[in-house]
This record gives sequence, C-alpha cells and structure tokens, in this order.
Amino acid sequence: NSKGWDLACTSHLEEIDAARAPYRETIFEVAPLLAGDVSGGEPMERFNPADPDSLVARVQTASPEDVETALSKARPWDASPAERAEILNRAADLYEENFGQVFAILAREAGKTQTDAVAELREAVDFLRYYAAQIEHLDAPALGTFTCISPWNFPMAIFTGQVAAGLAAGNAVLAKPAEQTPVIAHFATTLMHEAGVPRTALQLLPGGGDVGAAVTSDARIKGVAFTGSTATARKIKQAMAEHCDPGAPLIAETGGLNAMIVDSTALPEQAIRDILQSSFQSAGQRCSALRCLYVQEDVSKEFLAMLKGAMDVFRLDDPWQIKADSGPLIDQAAYDQISDYVEKARKEGRLIHQTASPDKGHFLSPTLIRVNGIEDMEREVFGPVLHVATFKSKNIDKVIDAINSTGYGLTFGLHTRIDDRVQHVTDRIEAGNMYVNRNQIGAIVGSQPFGGEGLSGTGPKAGGPFYLPRFAEAKTPDVPE
Ligand code: NAD
Ligand code: ALA
Repeated sequence: NSKGWDLACTSHLEEIDAARAPYRETIFEVAPLLAGDVSGGEPMERFNPADPDSLVARVQTASPEDVETALSKARPWDASPAERAEILNRAADLYEENFGQVFAILAREAGKTQTDAVAELREAVDFLRYYAAQIEHLDAPALGTFTCISPWNFPMAIFTGQVAAGLAAGNAVLAKPAEQTPVIAHFATTLMHEAGVPRTALQLLPGGGDVGAAVTSDARIKGVAFTGSTATARKIKQAMAEHCDPGAPLIAETGGLNAMIVDSTALPEQAIRDILQSSFQSAGQRCSALRCLYVQEDVSKEFLAMLKGAMDVFRLDDPWQIKADSGPLIDQAAYDQISDYVEKARKEGRLIHQTASPDKGHFLSPTLIRVNGIEDMEREVFGPVLHVATFKSKNIDKVIDAINSTGYGLTFGLHTRIDDRVQHVTDRIEAGNMYVNRNQIGAIVGSQPFGGEGLSGTGPKAGGPFYLPRFAEAKTPDVPE
C-alpha cells in the first residue's frame, strides 16, 4: 500500500503545507475531457463548503452532444496487459508526486481534512496499483465501453477505483463524477492521460444526474460501475434493463444503515474513540459510517456520559487546518436536510446531545439521537448524526435480527472482550464488512475488500480479488497440455 504521509511528523506537515500553498486561492477550470471536440453544456460553479463565499471552480458540464461524442469515439484500450499495468502504475506515481494539488483540491472542493485527504489519496493510489497487479492474472477479453459513476464523498478514491478497474480489464471508460466534485476527477483524469492512457480509452463527462442517465441508457454501454445511493442504483438498473444488453453487468455499491454493538465487557476509552471516528469523522459522510449504536444497558449511563465528553472536544474546523477533526457537510442542501431531521428529533424530545459548530460554512455539529432500535430509522442520514439504543445482554439475538432486517448490509462493528460472542455475532450478522474492537471505516485496499449485500450493493468487493473479473468477459483459463 501507498506509504502516505505521517501527520504526527512536523517535517511531513511542512512538506504538505508548502506543496498545497500555490493552490490555496486557485479558481480551477473544468471541462469535459473527450476524444473529440467539446461543445459544453450548462455552466456550473463550485464553492468551498467550509467557506461558501469562496469560489473554487468554474465547470463546463457535458452536453448531450458531448455524451454522443464520448460514446462514438470510445475504443477499448488495446495496449498489451503489461503495458496497461505499466501505465496504471505510472499514474499512481503521478498521483503521489502531485500530492500538494490533490490535498488542496480535496480540502477546498470536498471539505476533506488532512487525515481524510491522506487516506483518500492513498486509497486511490492503492486501487491503481492493485488492479494493475491483477491484470496478468485476468486473461479475459474486455467487455467494450464501461460507464463509471461515482459519488462526491470519495471523489478521488472511488472515482479512481472504478476507472482503474475498467481500464485494467481493457475497456473504454466513460467517467461521470459527482456534480459536487468535478475538480478532483478532472485532475485525476488529466494525470491518467499524462501517464499514457489514451483519450479514446478514458473520457470525462462532468455533470449531474442527467449526464449519468444519458451514459447508462445507451446500447453501446456494455457495463456500469456505480457507487452512490440505493435510490439512484434502482434508476440505473431500470435504465439499463430498457436500453442495454440483458447481460450488461451493473456493479452497484450503495448506502447502509450501519450498526455497532458495545457490550459491558468492552474497553470504554477504546470504544469511544472508535465511535467518534466511525460516526463523526468526515462529518459522517461515509457509506461505512456508524449510524446506530447499541450499548448494553448495564453500562449505558456511564458510557454515554463519556461519549458526550469526548464529543465536546471533537473539533469542527476549516479542513485546511491540521487541528480540524472533521470538516463541513458537502453543501447547503445536505445541511438543510440533516438540520431538519435533527430539529424534528429535538421537537420529539429524542435529542440526547449536540455540540457547538462554527458559524460560517456548512458545518453540522456531532449529534446523538435516542431510538428504541434500528427499526426506528427510516433511512440513511448521511451526516454526523448517531442514533443510540440500549439492549439487555440476553436480547442480543433480537438486536442482531433487527439489524439484519433493515435489508441493508454494509458495515458492522462489535466491541466486546468475550471470544464466544465475537464468534456468535460474526456467524449471524449480515454485513459486507465486520470490524471487531476497532472503528468501522477506512477499509484498506487488498487486505479489507469493501462492499455490502442486500440494499447496500451487488458486490463484488472493491479492492478485492473478485472485482476486476466483473469488468471482463468470463473465460475458462487455458488448460496446459
Ligand atoms: P447519488 O446517488 O445522489 O449520486 C451518485 C452519482 O450518481 C452522482 O455522480 C450522480 O450525479 C449520479 N446520478 C444521479 N442520478 C442519476 C441517474 N438517474 N442516472 C445515473 N447517474 C445518476 O449519491 P451521492 O449523494 O453522490 O452519494 C452518497 C451515497 O453514496 C450514500 O448513500 C452513500 O452511502 C453511498 N456510497 C456508497 C459507497 C459504497 O461503497 N457502498 C461509497 C460511497 C458512497
Ligand atoms: N471504503 C470506504 C470505507 O471503508 C468507503 O470507509
């Protein structure tokens, strides 16, 4: 894995500061990157979520003509497997060499703290190198033109992971990044082109759901990799059923209602640190984030008192600053939606705790809301809101049943020192990624393949051995004579 940067080391911090500084005020210009002429659609502006008066980018979105150009010019990448691997590895090196610009864009466009930005760049680099290393084992033809649609919350890592897998398998890729985060996608695409990926093999179509709909509703598309909400995945599935070959794969990685169980044997200090990271780091804007915490009744009073104390010293700040534990929500729409949700809970007398937040920017304070159980949660609340329930030890199976019956199955956390309990819960819980006595975010490419089941996704897990084959035709390996 990429060695990254050590944020506890002064020389690394100074190196990052110096490398980011030239991009502190830059107004970036983004346009489609096509293998033909660009006509350009609706212009768009992007502002810094921590400072909404500060312009970050002017964006030319893709027009319907640009989508047609991309579809007609796309050609599978015909370089040899060894050459593809070499070029993807070169792209990984370029990503790391350009860390200053990457960290600046991630902070200003996506509100990523330095901790999050380092993890994001490392994950993107890891995806490039991991899929490059797998090419030699693939030995299967490409499918054709693949659409990759990514979300704003991992605007570099997930964007890169999808594209790298599509390219590693030899497909032509049409990449449609989230409308909130086109700048980092544009920069990443530029670096992949610079590394040697031909324009006919990788084209970028910035824009919103309309552009996404256009590149998933065409018979020339032979597969789609999508990460985003469960609702959008359903729309894409319907569009593909109508327009694409019946066999065209949809790889969908979607939302979650992720739970954690903390029993009375858990180490409270450790569990609380892991809960803060899982629920409030990245302003809770991770699909993997903890949404519903079950604390054993016997210890819940003391445990919640400690949790509230820890929340009070968890710092929201401009993500450019190293002292920020978390940054803002992505935009005003997200802020309004989640604030309304919290306000409703307050009126219903279910608000347990909420800390203070900066006046400026789309910052929403870490919040605790009381629930009877996960069944009280109607939907994924994509922000720093943690729902808390208590349970009696004898009822742990009922808790597991309730968690499983949401239909989602992305991440799950368990804090206990009882070995039998670890085994019992592991056997019964239905989640793509289960974490014991640690936080439940930040899966590492190669060692923690990531992805859910049920409403949380179709699998295969990203960063694992079964992902790349889904971007290629199935083929029986040659049998030696
Ligand atoms: P979203 O579904 O609103 O948007 C995701 C992408 O889909 C964007 O690029 C958007 O422009 C595009 N899109 C929107 N409508 C479309 C349509 N009709 N056809 C094609 N494309 C369309 O999701 P979001 O708000 O960007 O991301 C947050 C969601 O993503 C959360 O639910 C989160 O849990 C999920 N997520 C899942 C994972 C995972 O690995 N399972 C990772 C990150 C985020
Ligand atoms: N892979 C990301 C995580 O584990 C979504 O947090």
